[in-house]
Amino acid sequence: MAISLHNSTNIPRVGFASPFLGSNSASKVSISVSLNSFSNLSFKSVETSRQQLYRISAMSKAESSSSNQVKVDISLSPRVNSVKPSKTVAITDHATALAQAGVPVIRLAAGEPDFDTPAIIAEAGINAIREGYTRYSPNAGTLELRTAICHKLKEENGISYTPDQIVVSNGAKQSILQAVLAVCSPGDEVIIPAPYWVSYPEMARLADATPVILPTLISDNFLLDPELLESNITEKSRLLILCSPSNPTGSVYPKKLLEKIAEIVAKNPRLLVLSDEIYEHIIYAPATHTSFASLPGMWERTLTVNGFSKAFAMTGWRLGYIAGPKNFIAACNKIQSQVGCIILIIFIFGKANYILRALVQ
Ligand SMILES: Cc1ncc(COP(=O)(O)O)c(C=O)c1O
Repeated sequence: MAISLHNSTNIPRVGFASPFLGSNSASKVSISVSLNSFSNLSFKSVETSRQQLYRISAMSKAESSSSNQVKVDISLSPRVNSVKPSKTVAITDHATALAQAGVPVIRLAAGEPDFDTPAIIAEAGINAIREGYTRYSPNAGTLELRTAICHKLKEENGISYTPDQIVVSNGAKQSILQAVLAVCSPGDEVIIPAPYWVSYPEMARLADATPVILPTLISDNFLLDPELLESNITEKSRLLILCSPSNPTGSVYPKKLLEKIAEIVAKNPRLLVLSDEIYEHIIYAPATHTSFASLPGMWERTLTVNGFSKAFAMTGWRLGYIAGPKNFIAACNKIQSQVGCIILIIFIFGKANYILRALVQ
């Protein structure tokens, strides 16, 4: 591909000659890109001597006033307009910018351990890259990694899954969004105890579902009151999102309370539970962690989400997963097959999964 720079109208332009049409200049197609600024970007097609092959135009307002060019419709989808940007991300980005400017900042926005990824994991990553594990992995993550995750869930959480009941994603955030998209129909209700992690309601909105926020009391240690839950379940209730240990409150649901919640959930065939257990290891005695799927009758209707960000200080590695009944997990996998591929790290753990095993034991 030939690249040429020219400056005919005080605007830097880059021309690309298409390699597909051969080197004959008569058959070359070139596309000029003017780079005035990000907000004033225009792509113009250039006619070849034989025929006009491309017409790509995204004109700025000023340029579009000229007679033969149309204005671009810059409206956004109602779905995007219904979603609020993540405040956690906004505050984190702001803190990063302040830190880069030399301002001493204590970051309390994103849930992030204050230590680096343990050296043994970092070395496994470096070694995997050196060994050439830099290509796409299977959509759901390597079999080795999913097998290791099954081992962890069995040993640590008392829940049995097979590798085809696990999908590994680029962070638990992606796992949760895909699950919400997979199970919610437009108009369904997603029950979220407050205070909540900011992304849950927005993910419900992205699925055209309605977040139903149930307040909790400081006197209840910010834990969901089962009676309040029961009185808010309707025929539209599709998903209850539980987060234990909780972001942002740090509260841990005791097993007895989860059992009461499970009894209520069990009466409603449509109601599923997404159990976000990403903070499982950030817990202080005497509190203990209970996986919701381990409770009687709950495996069939629970989607368990976990990951490596918090427990292993791997927030930037982007590695999370979901486990659940095959029907739901296959749906998550289907969505994932169209929205993103799994990153290198899956290979790393697939290759060196003894490290994962060492970490989870
Ligand atoms: C409650 C909760 N769930 C899920 C996530 C997403 O974690 P990950 O880094 O794996 O995407 C976060 C991250 O802040 C979180 O606080």
